[in-house]
Amino acid sequence: MKAFILGLTGAIAITATALGAQDDGCLVCHRLKGLSIVTKDNKIKDCSISDALFAHSVHRNVGCTECHTKIEQYPHKPGNEKVNCATKCHVIDPSTKKPFSHEKVYETWKESVHGKNYDKAPDIYPYCTYCHTNKLLIDVNKFDSLKMSFNRCSICHENKNWIRDRLSHVASREPIPIIRNGFTHQFIKTRRDGWEIVELCASCHENKKKMEKALEIEGIHNKYERERVLTAVESYKVTMHAKMLYLDRKDNRAADCLDCHTNKGGNFHDIFHKNDPRSSINAKNIELTCGRSTECHPLAPKYHMKNFAQTKWVHMHPIPDSLGQKIVKIVEEFMFWLTTGTLLFAVTIVGLDLLKNLRRKH
Ligand code: HEC
Ligand code: HEC
Ligand code: HEC
Ligand code: HEC
Ligand code: HEC
Ligand code: HEC
Repeated sequence: MKAFILGLTGAIAITATALGAQDDGCLVCHRLKGLSIVTKDNKIKDCSISDALFAHSVHRNVGCTECHTKIEQYPHKPGNEKVNCATKCHVIDPSTKKPFSHEKVYETWKESVHGKNYDKAPDIYPYCTYCHTNKLLIDVNKFDSLKMSFNRCSICHENKNWIRDRLSHVASREPIPIIRNGFTHQFIKTRRDGWEIVELCASCHENKKKMEKALEIEGIHNKYERERVLTAVESYKVTMHAKMLYLDRKDNRAADCLDCHTNKGGNFHDIFHKNDPRSSINAKNIELTCGRSTECHPLAPKYHMKNFAQTKWVHMHPIPDSLGQKIVKIVEEFMFWLTTGTLLFAVTIVGLDLLKNLRRKH
């Protein structure tokens, strides 16, 4: 009976959904605003889905039940809300003509430092959904350069909606040249800009409590190694790379976490402990990874790059209380007050000068 009611409402919904998103009859209920539940840890979880947003998202062509494979009836059975991102869906990958899935990325993640112990502590390690949302596609109309491509496509392809859909699919993954002050700038190298990636990784790696728990699970007890893991973000943020990104978050000359911690030509998810031979920072690969920096440091010979990484300057792990650190601290303070003092002085002089001029006029 329940299945029948679900089927019936489903049939109504399919005929009623003008947008044509594949909703399998779920949106009859789920488009209702304010459809929420209280979770076990007493938080309110909004279960309403906006048709319009879903229809413009990257997963718009995937039916609800292709991801929510276990939900077949209402009332839903508890514990069925989890989604496995390695599930195959009906969408056919045009490059292989086979049903599409994220299986390959899933396997990389499962083996990586983030996936292998995930089941032991799902609140500490990142699953796909921690880093990815059902992102909206880029709006083709918002970029002049894309508008021009759009006109070009329509010379041959006639269906404007199809073109917009295909173009935004590609554009959402590609660097789009944007024109700023008359110059063409590359949009970004990954869809997220460099600082966004730093913030994503920092959301856990800066969290001492989380990382301390993780170190227990990983069985890392060596005092120095622990310290290095716990200060990974802090020790990155004092480097030149971080400062360049901080000043211009889209500056793709500066290395963000992914540039060093994933292998070139990999799929961004191959992050391993440095003793693992698959790791981009393993002694075996470090030269290759840092050799990548010859794209940025064309004059530096590769073997210098390797030495550079191993001298602990890539993450600046200062030796606390050493004379060197004390000098750095003093110089830092001095430079801060020198700059602030100079600026204050200049502002005061300009202010007084302005006052003088104003008084002369009257
Ligand atoms: C008859 C109305 C109705 C239909 C049809 C319906 N749902 Fe739901 N759904 C709800 C309600 C109400 C909730 C709130 C929690 C509950 O009662 O289980 C919910 C909750 C959910 C949740 C969250 C569960 C959790 O514990 O976090 C998911 C996921 C979900 N629905 C998916 C679907 C999918 C997929 C479909 C289509 C196959 C669907 N629903 C069809 C009413 C419906
Ligand atoms: C590409 C896969 C995918 C598709 C397609 C999809 N969902 Fe989900 N959905 C997810 C994932 C992943 C979650 C998060 C589950 C979790 O917390 O583990 C989720 C969560 C939900 C929730 C719980 C609320 C929340 O925000 O966590 C509801 C309700 C829901 N989906 C309904 C739907 C409905 C209705 C559709 C169809 C219009 C749909 N989903 C299509 C993957 C999908
Ligand atoms: C000169 C005419 C022409 C132009 C301009 C053109 N296309 Fe095509 N496109 C074709 C033809 C013909 C095919 C099918 C044959 C082929 O694959 O070469 C095709 C195939 C495609 C496919 C593959 C469809 C599939 O399912 O395999 C996509 C996607 C596509 N075009 C998108 C675009 C986009 C986006 C633009 C604008 C940036 C564009 N095309 C510009 C002629 C054109
Ligand atoms: C630690 C965070 C993290 C986790 C966990 C993660 N990803 Fe990613 N993923 C990224 C980043 C960062 C990128 C680079 C994409 C960008 O921003 O351009 C990416 C890229 C991707 C892309 C390419 C997206 C595009 O539009 O170009 C896919 C597909 C993907 N991930 C799938 C997955 C799947 C499936 C899982 C789970 C098995 C997963 N990811 C787990 C961070 C993560
Ligand atoms: C949801 C939290 C979370 C996010 C987000 C996250 N990590 Fe992790 N990461 C962990 C945990 C937990 C460990 C295991 C602790 C360990 O091995 O030190 C870990 C381990 C690592 C390690 C191995 C450290 C070692 O001991 O050798 C590296 C490298 C790493 N992460 C890099 C990244 C990068 C780069 C990103 C951003 C793309 C990222 N992480 C995002 C939680 C996270
Ligand atoms: C310029 C390259 C580079 C960048 C950028 C970078 N790392 Fe690293 N990271 C390394 C290298 C090389 C090591 C190994 C150091 C060693 O072997 O002494 C390392 C080590 C680590 C470790 C393990 C701690 C240890 O030393 O054993 C973690 C965790 C980590 N990095 C996280 C991050 C996070 C998070 C970011 C971004 C905020 C980041 N890294 C940015 C190159 C980089």
